[in-house]
Amino acid sequence: MSEFPVHPVPESFKGAHITADNYAAMYRESIEDPATFWGEMATRFLHWHQPWNEVVSYDFPKGEAAWFSGGKLNVSVNCIDRHLPEKAQQPAIIWEGDDPTDSRIITYAELKDAVCRLANVLKSRGIQRGDRVCIYMPMIPEAAFAMLACTRIGAIHSVVFGGFSPEALKDRILDSSCSVVITADEGLRGGKRVALKRNVDKALDACPDVHSCIVVARTGAEVDWHDTRDVDYSQASAAADSDCEAEVMDAEDPLFILYTSGSTGKPKGVLHTTGGYLLHAASSFHYVFDYRDGEVFWCTADVGWVTGHSYIVYGPLCNGATTMIFEGVPTYPDPGRFWQVIDKHQVNIFYTAPTALRALHAVGDEPVKRTSRSSLRLLGSVGEPINPEAWEWYYRVVGESRCPIVDTWWQTETGGMMITPFPGATPLKPGSASFPFFGVDLALLNEEGAEIEGAGAGYLVIRASWPGQIRTVYGDHQRLIDTYFSTYPGYYFTGDGATRDEDGYYWITGRVDDVLNVSGHRMGTAEVESALVLHDKIAEAAVVGFPHDIKGQGIYCYVTPMQGVTPDDALKAELIALCVEEIGPIAKPDIIQWAPGLPKTRSGKIMRRILRKIAENELDSLGDTSTLADPEVVESLIAERQSH
Ligand code: PRX
Repeated sequence: MSEFPVHPVPESFKGAHITADNYAAMYRESIEDPATFWGEMATRFLHWHQPWNEVVSYDFPKGEAAWFSGGKLNVSVNCIDRHLPEKAQQPAIIWEGDDPTDSRIITYAELKDAVCRLANVLKSRGIQRGDRVCIYMPMIPEAAFAMLACTRIGAIHSVVFGGFSPEALKDRILDSSCSVVITADEGLRGGKRVALKRNVDKALDACPDVHSCIVVARTGAEVDWHDTRDVDYSQASAAADSDCEAEVMDAEDPLFILYTSGSTGKPKGVLHTTGGYLLHAASSFHYVFDYRDGEVFWCTADVGWVTGHSYIVYGPLCNGATTMIFEGVPTYPDPGRFWQVIDKHQVNIFYTAPTALRALHAVGDEPVKRTSRSSLRLLGSVGEPINPEAWEWYYRVVGESRCPIVDTWWQTETGGMMITPFPGATPLKPGSASFPFFGVDLALLNEEGAEIEGAGAGYLVIRASWPGQIRTVYGDHQRLIDTYFSTYPGYYFTGDGATRDEDGYYWITGRVDDVLNVSGHRMGTAEVESALVLHDKIAEAAVVGFPHDIKGQGIYCYVTPMQGVTPDDALKAELIALCVEEIGPIAKPDIIQWAPGLPKTRSGKIMRRILRKIAENELDSLGDTSTLADPEVVESLIAERQSH
């Protein structure tokens, strides 16, 4: 628990949407009578073509949930048309390019035009409701246009983070049988070019069902062109009709697929549906960020992750807000970039990740203090536990002790925020995600699976369905059941551990499974292991996380070479390259340790607990090693570790 003092609700938030006076009653109603609560929210936040028959029905053991069944709506209508004509001239998107002299404003009227044109281009390539469209884009407004264009015609988008390799892209395209890819010639980040189209070309060599590839010219670089398949975005959009009737969708029609890592196997396609997801994103955006009409909201995530889906695109636009899309990185051209952009676009609400804050904290206060930041009203954090030191720096230096921080815990699978402070209701404890969002019924379980009452530490689970709940793992419903609903029957299992203090605040302690969180990027240890063992000189690999000052967690690989192979630095470099090629630069190992053997039980199971302790250098607490098949392996790993 943090030793830092509690920060009371500031005077300026006494009139917030949610205050201490209404939070408790609203939360209680949301749990005791979700149908009434969410029915009212759905009327307030969304535009429906037709009302629903039933607010919610669900069956956790079967992994089933349905919200607003029978209700009809369209996401792009909710995010665009509904705000017209009043907000026609209001910025919907402010785009800040990688180069500080590059920016663009897209009004709601322009957004409608761009989205409808692209929707018509998709239609002209034969895309219909239910078809899957892969989006592999840099952080440019066209990424949001592409997502919304899909929703306009009822196509299901699958955004793949632009940092993934051609191999990872190919796997995702095939898994959800996408028939179209939308991409750009190149991306631009921190002054460096990313060869997106070239990556797509490579991936598509193995994807015969992709008949169209729509290419946005971002840098104007020369790219290979396949006449029958490739479509120039600007030419095709200019030629397309600027009106496109919105497809009327059922609340439970799929909206998007987003791949995320689990503890085993390949990444899974998390499927979200239309009504519940949009309501969760929109209502949490409004209440947690205490959003006021006209404010500028900036979430620094990439649209390739769920944070970008829910809080760059859907949550803000559904509220008629002004949302920022930032192409660059926090340290380019200098480490003051975030704060300069806040001044430049008069950002009121800023939402970022602890890893960025730690990196910027390490540079010192000067780049922050050179800027005004007087437009800021509220700060947010997401993606990983925020250490209280980084929290305090964010609060004192960035927010000048004036802006509350909402530390929001949630997951790709939850669709929207699940545990969070409300800036007008919650005294802040640095490092705690605080209290459940509306409708989120939390519990902590002990080793035996029994609920812990009061203060304590345990496995974080959820007792009842919430609107943004994952509906299935695309193409593998059993995997959904096995991953989330089988460990503790009757509950959704988050995969995280948490502590609840005597005041009821939740403190997320991190993953309890084999999922890593590296700079806020979620990754399965199994994915990195599979990449390593592709090398023909490698017999076996085990990957664990270890604490890293900036990244939160680093990637620590124990690698056993084949017999007769003498491992050296050249082999290490090949292994690193292999991880980058198979997954992407985010999967670059931090440490590779040669391991003549791995600690295994007599039944052959790798004892990761021991490997984690060695990686963390916690050699006094290795625990019981007596069940190992070969206890001497541990000694040699420790000796090798100490040489690092
Ligand atoms: O371990 C938790 C951590 O990130 C995981 C979910 O990752 P992903 O699906 O990529 O979504 C990230 C963005 C919502 C969680 O299981 N996590 C996320 N937010 C927090 C967090 N850990 C602690 N505090 C948070 N605020």
